[in-house]
Amino acid sequence: MILSPLLPLLLDGLGSPVPVPHFTDAEVPELGSGGLVLRDGALGHPLATLLRARLEQLDSRGALVPAGLGHDGRLIPALRSDRVATLEELGPDPVLEAVWAWFDRLRQALIEATWVGLPRFSVQLACYPGGGARYARHVDALPGDRNRLFTAIVYLNPDWRPEHGGRLRAWVRGQPMEVDPLWDRLVIFRSEAVPHEVLPAWVPRYSAAAWMRGAEAIPALADPDVVRRRVAGQEEG
Ligand code: OGA
Ligand code: MN
Repeated sequence: MILSPLLPLLLDGLGSPVPVPHFTDAEVPELGSGGLVLRDGALGHPLATLLRARLEQLDSRGALVPAGLGHDGRLIPALRSDRVATLEELGPDPVLEAVWAWFDRLRQALIEATWVGLPRFSVQLACYPGGGARYARHVDALPGDRNRLFTAIVYLNPDWRPEHGGRLRAWVRGQPMEVDPLWDRLVIFRSEAVPHEVLPAWVPRYSAAAWMRGAEAIPALADPDVVRRRVAGQEEG
């Protein structure tokens, strides 16, 4: 995303500084061993407020579209019924650029804390519109997939109550736990290590998620068939 010249003005205009993401010594092994790290007050109230307003606006003008499943993006509303857009698709917007910049700082904090190389990331906005909208149990990456190494989600629901539903249920080292999708709350976990689901949401539920990615895989290793063909070719030759 190309940052617009408005970004510094916007960040200054927020009045209070945007929190700088960081990880404690205890959180790093927790992430590494398939745990989940949770932080309230992630974006800070001013930026979270702007983002929530932007998300509602974008959704009301149809910029968020039904999310698909798997590599072919099949739509199966019984399994997944949120509406999404990636920041890359949405084009220049100072609020979204500030959010992008914050996730970029989170990426840098993760690199410093874990020493994992994370050269790329993407950010997706999501709305579960209520009426039981959910996302069935899944993992964000298959083992060894470097396309998504860490998942970071910030929830943007100021008045959340238990009867609103939409909790995140995550299996941490095999044990189920639930996270309330509270205002400006960040959860972060290793994408391949933590199966999770979004329980049915009964009122609109808003969030922004980033996937921190490793360097590109070597194509020949990414596709077992290619490897097999190569090995066979060498044997023939
Ligand atoms: C996802 C996802 C969980 C949440 O978008 O892959 O699992 O709590 N989101 O929003
Ligand atoms: Mn997920």
